[in-house]
Amino acid sequence: MRLLPIVLLATSALAAPLHADELRDSAKDIFAPLPSTVPAVKDNRITPEKIELGKALFFDPRLSASGVFSCYSCHNLATGGDDNMETSVGHGWQKGPRNSPTVLNAVLNEAQFWDGRAADLMEQAKGPVQAGVEMANTPAQVVDTLNSLPQYVTWFKAAFPEEADPVSFDNMAKAIEAFEATLITPAPFDSWLNGDDLALSDDAKAGLVLFIDKGCSSCHSGVNVGGHGYYPFGLIEKPGAEVLPPDDKGRFAVTETVDDEYVFRAAPLRNVAVTAPYFHSGKVWDLKVAVQIMAESQLGEELADQEADQIVAFLDSLTGTLPAITVPVLPAETATTPRPTA
Ligand code: HEM
Ligand code: HEM
Repeated sequence: MRLLPIVLLATSALAAPLHADELRDSAKDIFAPLPSTVPAVKDNRITPEKIELGKALFFDPRLSASGVFSCYSCHNLATGGDDNMETSVGHGWQKGPRNSPTVLNAVLNEAQFWDGRAADLMEQAKGPVQAGVEMANTPAQVVDTLNSLPQYVTWFKAAFPEEADPVSFDNMAKAIEAFEATLITPAPFDSWLNGDDLALSDDAKAGLVLFIDKGCSSCHSGVNVGGHGYYPFGLIEKPGAEVLPPDDKGRFAVTETVDDEYVFRAAPLRNVAVTAPYFHSGKVWDLKVAVQIMAESQLGEELADQEADQIVAFLDSLTGTLPAITVPVLPAETATTPRPTA
């Protein structure tokens, strides 16, 4: 779905609500607090056994051909669920084409990847394992590896008790999706939406008003403050090639429609303050600069210095708390485990 500039203008024309409760009411129409329980996902009942298995798989570098890269390599849960690199480094030390987005709260995105090419986390998880620049493995070799580790076979049986042949590439993806569904990070903004007046500073509240009035929330809305809807990066003014490299045409590669050239999913903004560098190119390290670029490229607006600072203060209030995660102890290799390849 694309939003026309006229809709943006209509939203920007809204007057700033002055009273705290009015601001909360407006905000609740646009955003939503995180759920307090693990969200349900389509066609994949979430059970404690699946979550535990998925956690082990998420941390296990043996899902990669080299035995070096796990999901965790590029989605480090200790650093905001991403890798803090311009673009990720994967198999054979190759540099991939895009910045790694956070896995935190990703279950709540309408579609996955910068261009939304995967419908959900289950479909998504099969991508990196096979991608040449990421883990460079094959489904058959992943299944061989898992079958060679008796502990995994037991875990898969416990996670998929109704299945005769539970160790499969699809079930690997389902278990990872179940683990990722637990990565929900409640933030001060959620406490404020839920009624805690003191959870946001005055600057953050002023930033929220600006975020709504200027029109940012026309694209970055909902529970993940983005993560749904596709828009040209450069709707009003195309950023320079140093921020928007010409060779990555975004959603055009998915739909092959000319209108989708340089169209990307409105990025989800939860935890954005801890997931620099920014944009699919990862070219911008400073959140304030990213905010200024957005205002110019998407809204044709130059923000005053204080306005940009206040929007950043609002974005800071989206930094949440990770659930406690115990690092899993992974099963040791056996004689039949495929050996790492270079
Ligand atoms: C995107 C999970 C392995 C780098 C994503 C997304 C998820 C995810 C959920 C989409 C997030 C969003 O759209 O907001 C996983 C899992 C992995 C894994 C479960 C293991 C099976 C890796 C590895 C690397 C990596 C090893 C680095 C070598 C990236 C990059 C993107 C991405 C660059 C964005 C790609 C694009 O939009 O085209 N990953 N990831 N991931 N991940 Fe991973
Ligand atoms: C990305 C903030 C307005 C669509 C981003 C990012 C930030 C941001 C910080 C980078 C996220 C990251 O790298 O993880 C803002 C602010 C806005 C605003 C503060 C208002 C001043 C808009 C509007 C639209 C939009 C109005 C839609 C017309 C997008 C898209 C991306 C993005 C498509 C992904 C760009 C890429 O491919 O790298 N936004 N945004 N944003 N935003 Fe906005």
